[in-house]
Amino acid sequence: METVRLGLVGAGSISARHLSAIEALADEVALVAIADPSEATAARAASLGVPWFAQTEAMLAAVPCDGVIVCTPTEHHLAPTLAALDAGAHVLVEKPICATVAEAQAVIARSEATGRHVLVGHQRRYYPQVERARAIVQGGDLGQLVAVSGQWTLRKPDDYYTPDWRKRWQAGPVLTNLIHDMDCLRYICGEVLSVQAEVSNVVHGWEKEDAAALVIRFEGGALGSFILSDQTTSPWSWEMALGENRSIPASGQNALRFMGHEASLEFPNLTLWRNDGAPCDWTRPVQREEVPLDAADPYIAQLRHFAEVIRGVAAPRIDAADAARTLAATVAVLDSARTGARVVLAQ
Ligand SMILES: NC(=O)c1ccc[n+]([C@@H]2O[C@H](COP(=O)([O-])OP(=O)(O)OC[C@H]3O[C@@H](n4cnc5c(N)ncnc54)[C@H](O)[C@@H]3O)[C@@H](O)[C@H]2O)c1
Repeated sequence: METVRLGLVGAGSISARHLSAIEALADEVALVAIADPSEATAARAASLGVPWFAQTEAMLAAVPCDGVIVCTPTEHHLAPTLAALDAGAHVLVEKPICATVAEAQAVIARSEATGRHVLVGHQRRYYPQVERARAIVQGGDLGQLVAVSGQWTLRKPDDYYTPDWRKRWQAGPVLTNLIHDMDCLRYICGEVLSVQAEVSNVVHGWEKEDAAALVIRFEGGALGSFILSDQTTSPWSWEMALGENRSIPASGQNALRFMGHEASLEFPNLTLWRNDGAPCDWTRPVQREEVPLDAADPYIAQLRHFAEVIRGVAAPRIDAADAARTLAATVAVLDSARTGARVVLAQ
């Protein structure tokens, strides 16, 4: 099997997870170059034994890449993604695919025109918890799905906001964090039909929101509510539930609940709640049942999948069109909050 040659564009925080995955899959893939305008990344490239470029175009012109991993700030996803596709490389771009739906449409068009794939870095899709929850909800184990409630409430460290781009709306918790939950919700419950939301800036006076509250209508009739904030001290979020991020200690507390006519499911540490027999109503005890799952490193699974996509033996698990739908449902939160209107999404 020939080694897949990978370029990295944007060598900031999240790139570390991709670089670890590249190291773990050294028999399949190899890093061949890094592009990042920050001179500090030159030393990083040197320590990894690969050439450093300040410009993506210069990297693509000098070093042939089968695939390019784009980890730039969200507002700078579009240009390197298009440049990599034009250079004949397949792209793994961090989430969100882009900052706007119009930009995402440009990526879809260029992917089709060049015949090169775009895989979007929604790494939660590689967790067994997500696949199992989808099977439980869509397989009818809960009966008719009626309601969903979710929460992502953390407090990011103050120095997280040192780079100015993180104070702008493109880096707020809606586009940066809610997009993960929105993608899971779409994947598990079905398409989002409409979104109504409010946002607030009670802590900081920056452009980005500090909190959001939303109401979602799903295809199939279920209603969902979700609370989001990056300025709250609380144990309820995907990251704390699983302890998946080395910088965020685990709480083990679940963050989402899927409620059906016959049973309910807590997520992401899967707990099923069912009546102990007929009738299935409030006269009977509701008993808990843990669903056992194996642990998996999603960045390694994602990179292995990207290598398969590049080799032409798999289609992207979440391509540009799919990720654009997740983005549209997420951006709808900001649009609804701005206009005060419910946003109905194109199907
Ligand atoms: N999948 C996840 O869970 C996850 C987690 C964190 C971040 N992200 C995403 O990754 C992206 C980057 O986030 P981060 O926290 O690593 O940011 P960061 O600020 O830590 O790093 C960004 C890097 O990109 C470089 N850069 C800026 N403009 C560039 C350009 N035009 N070309 C090349 N490099 C450029 C910067 O110099 C910096 O080194 C964001 O889109 C974010 O949403 C995803």
